[in-house]
Amino acid sequence: MTTKIAVFASGSGSNFQAIQEAIEHGELNASVALVITDKPGAFVVTRANNFGIPVVELSPKAFENKAAYEAKIIEHLKANDVEWIILAGYMRLVGETLLTAYENRIINIHPSLLPSFPGKDAIGQAMAHGVKVTGVTVHYVDAGMDTGTIIAQGAVDVVDGDREATEARVHALEHALYTNTLKQLFEQ
Ligand code: GRF
Repeated sequence: MTTKIAVFASGSGSNFQAIQEAIEHGELNASVALVITDKPGAFVVTRANNFGIPVVELSPKAFENKAAYEAKIIEHLKANDVEWIILAGYMRLVGETLLTAYENRIINIHPSLLPSFPGKDAIGQAMAHGVKVTGVTVHYVDAGMDTGTIIAQGAVDVVDGDREATEARVHALEHALYTNTLKQLFEQ
């Protein structure tokens, strides 16, 4: 059975693109029913348009509160029979409304070896600490900031003093690890 997913993203969407390409190459038996962004006009919207994937652009500010914002998202998810929510650079804590509607069905990718360096700019945090090895974590989402149960991790050697090169390594690993991990999850 093909698993129907929604990808949530706030920015560039390179992880979304990697997932979609894996699907198109027959490496991942899933279908991206929707891309959802909280940042209308983010580059992920262009990427989704290029693939012909429907996008829902919702500005949380337009809603009375987080519960109302997430309730609107859930309407879109249910209307499209979405089974799993895949966060890929979604820069917002998921609230109780979505967590309850999609219990154990929300996954995130984070660019560090959690529990080290949760939150924003994990690569910058790692480099500022002078660590020699950092990495990538795929985990279930709970109410905390990058605190959910870890599913998979991979390590990356930091390129000393070179953020750009380190970032390139982290992103390359992200794209491979996310696809492989989702494949395993969906086959269970
Ligand atoms: C990735 O590093 C991801 O781990 C983090 O946000 C970044 C999103 O990158 N949560 P992109 O938008 O997928 O290119």
